[in-house]
Amino acid sequence: MDQAQLDWWRSAVIYQIYPRSFADANGDGMGDLPGITSRLGSLKSLGIDAIWLSPFMRSPQKDAGYDVSDYCDVDPLFGTLDDFDRMLATAHSLGLRVLIDLVPNHTSDQHEWFKRAVAASPGSPEREFYHFRDGDTPPNNWQSMFGGPAWTRLPDGQWYCHLFDSSQPDLNWENPKVQEAFEDILRFWLDRGVDGFRVDQPHAMGKAAGLPDHPDVERAGAGFIEGEPSPPMWFQESVHPIFRRWRAILDSYPGERAMCGEAYVLPLSFMALWVRPDEFHQTFNFRYLDSPWTAKDIRKTIDESFAAFGAVGAPSTWVLSNHDVMRHASRMGGDFGRTTASDGVGPNDKQPDAELGLKRAVAATLFTLGLPGSMYLYQGEELGLPEHTTLAPEFRQDPTFARTNGERVGRDGCRVPLPWESNVNESNGFNQTGKSWLPQPASYSNYARDLQEGVEGSTLETYKWALAKRKELNLGHGTFEWVNELCSDTSLAYRNGSLLVIHNFGDDVLESENGLIHLEANQTVWLEQS
Ligand code: GLC
Repeated sequence: MDQAQLDWWRSAVIYQIYPRSFADANGDGMGDLPGITSRLGSLKSLGIDAIWLSPFMRSPQKDAGYDVSDYCDVDPLFGTLDDFDRMLATAHSLGLRVLIDLVPNHTSDQHEWFKRAVAASPGSPEREFYHFRDGDTPPNNWQSMFGGPAWTRLPDGQWYCHLFDSSQPDLNWENPKVQEAFEDILRFWLDRGVDGFRVDQPHAMGKAAGLPDHPDVERAGAGFIEGEPSPPMWFQESVHPIFRRWRAILDSYPGERAMCGEAYVLPLSFMALWVRPDEFHQTFNFRYLDSPWTAKDIRKTIDESFAAFGAVGAPSTWVLSNHDVMRHASRMGGDFGRTTASDGVGPNDKQPDAELGLKRAVAATLFTLGLPGSMYLYQGEELGLPEHTTLAPEFRQDPTFARTNGERVGRDGCRVPLPWESNVNESNGFNQTGKSWLPQPASYSNYARDLQEGVEGSTLETYKWALAKRKELNLGHGTFEWVNELCSDTSLAYRNGSLLVIHNFGDDVLESENGLIHLEANQTVWLEQS
């Protein structure tokens, strides 16, 4: 096996499928596994190496599947285990690897473990699966990431902890029984043949002993603040031995199984501790996703990324969009009335400029795809999909929307089903019936895949071209150096092997002194040099 095969995850382009919204075979308006299987050929032709599926396990769907009630079965919404096996076999026959989402920080409140805990008495071993506490008031000041307190009280007076929705109780990872149960879950899917896992919220799994208050009440729900000590619910050292054991389990299987942690840990030098050689293979470089798109910020982030990940021998895993943030084609579409893009746009925001946003987004993607390392793409970005302020409140399902009384619109905007065939029906070919769990905005018929397929200059063909070139030049395993004479306040240029990548961040034309290089505003060029 050559090096590229051996370390596939170091350079892989991994495409995130959000099963609810990718393709719907049974026409009920909700995407499903047979839908995915039927469209895998289109992903092969896009030129990606692997897919990651957001959760499709049994779930009451209170947080779109991130509330799992049975880790070893498929939710009937998405099909059956047989459908999963068929999808996996088809992906493998096309040479695509498959990562699945594992949600270990919390279960659904409908999981057997939680139902048993509620039925058992305070102090029982069943309650030891979760964090239960006595008291007349919530045991501490922690807040849910989706808004409101992180504690809910049972009729018998005990409180249980949930860093997300009240339907997502946090597991007690100090309990060896929880640890063993998850090792069995890993083996269940590895035995079925999955190539690895994307692990949800791994940095939340450990809690400081005694569950002390967050030191800053004002920010008890704000995640963490870089440069400040870890809050008691994030980044506890106790989680690392767990992942080392998981890594050993993955390594005991043939075929280089891999795991990517959604470790929202900054600075990057801390994040890199999660990808030491015996822990995760990858962690999403969220610093890159969050960086303002300016030459100064991006240069700093790239430098820090290579320094931090390089120090532990890990690749950087670049990412610009996923199912939790505003699509980058909208994020980059000028002023939408807010500085944060963790939620999508709603009725109180300005509609981002679709043309400008798309131009910048494609240029940003091209700039990123030239970098060595691995890259995650989010379904629909290859079509240039934007988000819209028009998504009506009655359709919104993200718990953030309800828990904040609509103050935060949440993440539904980036989760709207994909348009495949323009105007064949109301869902633009997402299925045969036109039904769609979130309605597509009117503009989506203009972005449908069939309108872009084979059309030179379309977003889809641009992605295909770049992915093919990336593979041909082996850029993922490549090298990196800045080309300082082409870097300025509004431009960055780097070399990866024989490829020179230049990006113009500015709104003016960029021209080199000798006139050989000419870039439009918000443009990236790839120049192959011998
Ligand atoms: C992760 C998921 C997000 C989910 C949360 C709770 O951040 O990406 O969608 O809501 O974890 O499981």
